Amino acid sequence: MIYQTNGMVLLTSEWCGWLILTFALLCPSQPVRADFQGATHIMPFEEETINYNQTKAGGSVARLQERIGRGELKLKHDDSFGYLLSLLQELKVTETSQMLVFSKTSFQRERISPKAPRAIFFSDDVYVGFVPGSPLLEISMADPKLGGVFYTLDQSETGKTRFVRTDQCLECHASAKTMGVPGHLVRSFPTDDSGMVDLNNGVSLVNHRTPFDERWGGWYVTGTHEKQTHRGNLIEPAAFERQEKEPNYLGNLTDLGRFFSVSNYPKPQSDIVALMVLEHQTHIYNFITRLNYESTLALQQYGHVNYLKNIVDAFLKYLLFTEEAPLTSTVKGNPDFEKVFESRGPKDKQGRSLREFNLQTRLFKYPCSYLVYSEAFDNMPEPMKAHLYRRLWDILTNKDASPAFQTISADTKRAILEILTETKPGLPYYWREKSRIKS
Ligand code: HEC
Repeated sequence: MIYQTNGMVLLTSEWCGWLILTFALLCPSQPVRADFQGATHIMPFEEETINYNQTKAGGSVARLQERIGRGELKLKHDDSFGYLLSLLQELKVTETSQMLVFSKTSFQRERISPKAPRAIFFSDDVYVGFVPGSPLLEISMADPKLGGVFYTLDQSETGKTRFVRTDQCLECHASAKTMGVPGHLVRSFPTDDSGMVDLNNGVSLVNHRTPFDERWGGWYVTGTHEKQTHRGNLIEPAAFERQEKEPNYLGNLTDLGRFFSVSNYPKPQSDIVALMVLEHQTHIYNFITRLNYESTLALQQYGHVNYLKNIVDAFLKYLLFTEEAPLTSTVKGNPDFEKVFESRGPKDKQGRSLREFNLQTRLFKYPCSYLVYSEAFDNMPEPMKAHLYRRLWDILTNKDASPAFQTISADTKRAILEILTETKPGLPYYWREKSRIKS
């Protein structure tokens, strides 16, 4: 609350927290600047051309709402998790993607703590947040046109099952940390024993470039990673101090029972591999949304996308993982998550897929994001896609010799080219006509 006395404005600690949080979210950091040539401003998505607020959202949540509305489907309710399990099933989000965050973020911050972390589940384009005992579920979509679209769902059994679209989430979910568009984010900050974040000592935008040892402050992490260290499972300053002296104190954990009651959640885990996938995915979706918005506006203003070419190269570096933080030893999570994730394909004739994991030196075996198959990617304006495909072709065939893409070996480029040529619909004709790589 703000109190005004004799012309002086006093901020209570709650408001100070919000101000610091807003400041931290709005302050650009190096990786975003690099991605956008200095531009991290909020895109004018509420104005006419994009018209975020007035545009009907598509995607699986909207389709599910329609089925419920027509009476074709009723979500099942249970005493432990409300509509959660039925919702995950209908949205085809695997329970094995469960991750747990205990830092007090989100608009449910009062309910979240190390004893009651928030569970997050996700698929390629849907995210679901669950806090035990909360009256609602948080749901968000990576909408193919709009970027992040946010909903709440009333958990009470008597309520009408209705996904309520809300823009109050954009306060945090549309900032420099989401590339200035409505989207998703992952952070890593130390906390105190209540889960309150220490914003001076962390990373406010985690993605696949973030070094392993800086990840997961404020998160629980299950899975093994040998000698590599991370900041997960460390709850208050004393734990961080101990970890400095004793690397991997609370690392390599497969059981979280010592911290909170795991039976309050569908799974007992906060899977390390799911976390790594989430971090790659949230950033690339924001990137796709930003490219989509930028090209829509550029086409309207100039009739071409030529001014966006530098951004496209930055995007391709991210798509092809050229700056991925390397793994220095093997990472093992719950094999069930990996199995479900990999099974979603598509595969080429040799059985290869962009979803295959490596987990020894990097996240994926073939470093080209599986989100190249997403509806959001396909939904980018044609002139932008034409330019993207041409650059990607030049890079993968070694016609482009710029140093940025030389980190990918010739064999890996060839494999990615072959997989894409066989599995990606809508490629320009020259991809199929000349699939030989120049050496
Ligand atoms: C005070 C800032 C804040 C507000 C408001 C907020 N969120 Fe978030 N949200 C976050 C942060 C930060 C994360 C990343 C995980 C974390 O650190 O807790 C996140 C993560 C999520 C995730 C997981 C996917 C991701 O982006 O990592 C979902 C789903 C989500 N929020 C839904 C919502 C919905 C729905 C609303 C509004 C009803 C909302 N959030 C409002 C800060 C916020």
